[in-house]
Amino acid sequence: SRMEPTVMVVFGAAGDLTWRKLVPALYNLYLDGRLPERFAIVGVARQEMDDAGFRRKLREGVDLHSRRSVTDESTWSGFADRLSYLAGDFTTAETGALLSRRLEGLDREWNGRAVRVFYFAIPPGLMEAAARQLESLGVCRDCSRDRLVVEKPFGRDLASARQLNGLLTSLFAETQIYRIDHYLGKETVQNILAFRFANSLFEPVWNRRYIDHVQITVAEAVGVGKRGGYYDTSGALRDMVQNHLLQILCLIAMEPPVSFSADEVRNKKVDVLRAIRPIRPEEVHRVAVRGQYGRGMVACEGVTGYREEQGVPPDSVTETFAALKLWIDNWRWQGVPFYLRTGKRLRAKVSEVAILFRPAPHQLFPSAAVESWQPNRLVLRIQPEEGIASRIQVKQPGTRLLLGAVDMGFRYHDAFHAASPEAYETLLLDVICGDATLFMRADQVESAWGVISPILDTWESVPPADFPNYQAGGWGPETADLLIAKEGHSWVQPDLP
Ligand code: BG6
Repeated sequence: SRMEPTVMVVFGAAGDLTWRKLVPALYNLYLDGRLPERFAIVGVARQEMDDAGFRRKLREGVDLHSRRSVTDESTWSGFADRLSYLAGDFTTAETGALLSRRLEGLDREWNGRAVRVFYFAIPPGLMEAAARQLESLGVCRDCSRDRLVVEKPFGRDLASARQLNGLLTSLFAETQIYRIDHYLGKETVQNILAFRFANSLFEPVWNRRYIDHVQITVAEAVGVGKRGGYYDTSGALRDMVQNHLLQILCLIAMEPPVSFSADEVRNKKVDVLRAIRPIRPEEVHRVAVRGQYGRGMVACEGVTGYREEQGVPPDSVTETFAALKLWIDNWRWQGVPFYLRTGKRLRAKVSEVAILFRPAPHQLFPSAAVESWQPNRLVLRIQPEEGIASRIQVKQPGTRLLLGAVDMGFRYHDAFHAASPEAYETLLLDVICGDATLFMRADQVESAWGVISPILDTWESVPPADFPNYQAGGWGPETADLLIAKEGHSWVQPDLP
């Protein structure tokens, strides 16, 4: 391949992310022949382990979490040869020197300076030290070839995100910094742009004249699992809305970019975030709803409530569900509410965007005919059963004129027989190739924090009185239904198998 030699250094390599996501993704890229011929992964973490132990552990991760398993050992060992481990605290001079030497060794072996990708799979508290260490080692100075990948959470509010951005951009160029939001690597999320801008059918109606409102649902059936300790300091608004949901909203609402260049696309997205009407503190209770799950049933199994989860205090006031109503103050969207909701321990894992259209301007059918009338709607299903369905009215069979609603649709699975890559495959390949389009720029991250800041502040100052307020296995608290009912709307409940 023509790709440049590349080394990826993962800080926090003993953690879950490396094992579950990063290495399985790289393994799949390797199988597809998408990695540079000269490619190496250096894992750095404090845990004592040798190269063989590191490879064994990652092999297990691939067996459990890769979309393709290891079918022949020689292929695996061809990949595993590229994996090595460096035990130590990466903020110390000692480990720093070892890392520098490892990088120089690779350059020598490869006869040239490799592209270096430093992946921060570490808690936010360690990012500053890691960034300073990289800077002082001088291993990340080539602006066009050395890159930094920063995992979420990117700060915990506007102030801390600004501080982290300030620090990173004082040490490195913005173009070197890749802030990950893994939703942007999902095929169906990227398909929102293809759907909107590669077709001439929908864009003409994609505005306030035809669209009544938009709903974005990202529901999860899982609880917080073993992540209670982290999650309890975060909550649904920080964990999901600030990043994934607002990014989806940007793709739905943005103006057509002139090209797909990284900054062109990101400019258009930032425009959306900046046009979101700021929420005044006194109206937070009218536009935002929070919830926390109690015990209940998910997929016919009894599950515990949030406050009983491992690592969660019994009187926790952290929200595991959030719903909000946003307005976008621009020409295209004036007066069109955008409803967002997300939560853990809901009925099923399902993410989708529903676009609800206005009624036909003139109702010429007799009222009996339209009893089962439903507004036209377009549902973009992000996961699972990825696809698109549009609901239209047709005449029901029979001698009487009765209307009925049916769906016209396409499913990825039926239309293309190829499996989709995982989000991390797409994103890691983009980092290796130096394409930042699907990554978050500093101003994007900060604008997104700005949108939810008033809600975070208000919720923190007024603890919820009713937690837990929804049962595991439902669609969240009743207050979420009331939120949307105020404008005469109701949530489109996803079609489940
Ligand atoms: C992560 C959140 O960013 O996204 C998790 O921290 C959440 O809490 C996850 O479960 C959901 O991702 P996906 O790809 O499973 O929809």
